[in-house]
Amino acid sequence: MCGIIAYTGHRPSVPVLIQGLKSLEYRGYDSAGLSFVHMNKLHLFRASGKLEALESKLDTGAVIHATSGIGHTRWATHGLPNEINAHPHLDHNSDLALVHNGIIENFQELKAEFADCGLAFRSETDTEVLVCLIAKGMERHGDMRQAISWALRQVEGSFAFALISRSNPGTIWAARRSSPLIFGQGTGENFVASDIPAFLPFTREVVFLEDDELVEMTSNEWRIFNSLTLEPVTKKVQTIAWDVQAAQKGGYRHFMLKEIFEQPQVIADCLAGRVDRETKGVVLKELESLQVPKRLHIIACGTSYHAGLWGKYVMESLAGIPVDVEIASEFRYKPLIHDPSKIYLFISQSGETADTLAALYLVKKQGGITLGLCNVLGSSLAREAHHVVYTQAGPEISVASTKAMCSQLALIFLITLYWARHNLSLDSKAIEEAVCAFEDLPDMLSKTLEHTRNTATRICKSYSEVRSFFFLGRGLYFPLALEGALKLKEISYIHAEGYAAGELKHGPIALIEPDLPTFALALKDDLLGKVKSNLKEIQARKGKIIALTQPGSELDVNDVWEIPVTWGPLNSFFVLPALQLFAYETAVYLGKDVDQPRNLAKSVTVE
Ligand code: F6R
Repeated sequence: MCGIIAYTGHRPSVPVLIQGLKSLEYRGYDSAGLSFVHMNKLHLFRASGKLEALESKLDTGAVIHATSGIGHTRWATHGLPNEINAHPHLDHNSDLALVHNGIIENFQELKAEFADCGLAFRSETDTEVLVCLIAKGMERHGDMRQAISWALRQVEGSFAFALISRSNPGTIWAARRSSPLIFGQGTGENFVASDIPAFLPFTREVVFLEDDELVEMTSNEWRIFNSLTLEPVTKKVQTIAWDVQAAQKGGYRHFMLKEIFEQPQVIADCLAGRVDRETKGVVLKELESLQVPKRLHIIACGTSYHAGLWGKYVMESLAGIPVDVEIASEFRYKPLIHDPSKIYLFISQSGETADTLAALYLVKKQGGITLGLCNVLGSSLAREAHHVVYTQAGPEISVASTKAMCSQLALIFLITLYWARHNLSLDSKAIEEAVCAFEDLPDMLSKTLEHTRNTATRICKSYSEVRSFFFLGRGLYFPLALEGALKLKEISYIHAEGYAAGELKHGPIALIEPDLPTFALALKDDLLGKVKSNLKEIQARKGKIIALTQPGSELDVNDVWEIPVTWGPLNSFFVLPALQLFAYETAVYLGKDVDQPRNLAKSVTVE
């Protein structure tokens, strides 16, 4: 994630930048920084930690004179969340300062070219490479637009950046590719930012920048160009009607809804830099020093545990690796039978869950190899595990986890393909097919989410008065049934049980009656016939059924809810948001506090 803001105008810029960064903190908050030009010098302020740490450093006289500048709040992806890696970053001559959101996928290759010329870098970030590349472009072309265009033609990956130059105070350049960037038009002042709330107190007139667009702005003028060809682009200024609070949620009513709708981007971000463009093989540098495990032991809590259970089905069927999955709070209090052929995988969004961390310490103490899969860079799990892979989902604010699980499934799927290749359990053609389907997924998903939401809104109304629900699934949809039940109970307070569909007849079927409905995951896979038989057993006892299914499954139940079809396990990425939206719409209909359900906390740091 990360949040960026740039300002040029008639006001002292530093308070404008700080105010903007405060409203962007939801995009990341592990370090912050800003830069401006005063008296022919680039001033740079950076601090690790929250914004207050940065504010306490802004003590020089120059701060009150600056009327332009750039600011950044960071969600670390490359390099630890410390001051050196905080943005802005400067070029080698300290002529340019740049703030960036995104991931430059080929930064290592670009960095190596600088190293060949004997130039050293101050930070571990991909961003510093980008600003140095633009400075190199300036040396060649002597013109900033040309320099940026030259640099961007070499860069792969995603970015939104804003740039200032010591020799041209008052002018700001900003461009984007696959990361958000919005221009704000004021009167005698102009803005760019990652999100509208950053400048909403000053203007509602905005231009949404598209991929490969570059804006050049001063206090009174702005122009937009295609960043690769430098041809001028005509854009429409739109007036935003949101208030500040609505804008922080991107216009969504709740953070949970926003985060559900961010899932296509989350998948794209998880893939960023992890697929070889030519071979379509999976590149996971973090796992290069790790042998392919003979067995995998996954340990996690709550939603992350469900992601682990899903991982078991995928890992065993595609990579041929046997997997055990355990709840951390159970694992930590049983004898650990150490098996050196195992790798222990700890899944945690926050990286701070007490039970998961305690299990990790236990395994480490016994000499086990540990791998952390988490979202928060520099978290305890990330620091303590021997190896770590990041889900890159950005901050999750809603207490009920949604996009974090999506990113966990995405990363587990990539790890599976990575190990399947090394294990020779899948050939390169099969991997290519899976990767291509995965690359198509963000686009497919974003086209269907609104329709999925409308279906959830419509269906949930007939069931919102019930006191209890079953969620059923088989195979890799059983963990998703558990997750569907968890989401419904935690935000709507309707009791729900997730069950393996075949297990119902071993007891729980006694509960079936017209007032206890079943939400069935009846996807068109090899187990559909079995699920259909289970549903007949429920109907024979007058139980109502919602079936999440796909075209052609010929189900005769109370509510048939169809989702699109994609490659094998990737169908789960359509199932997950449907379950999340069903819980969400039910909770909204019942008037519950969706983002902060009772009795819960976002990060469970106590036992
Ligand atoms: C449910 C939820 C929790 C977390 C669990 C683990 O919506 O958010 O069940 O999944 O507390 O948290 P992490 O993944 O941070 O270890």
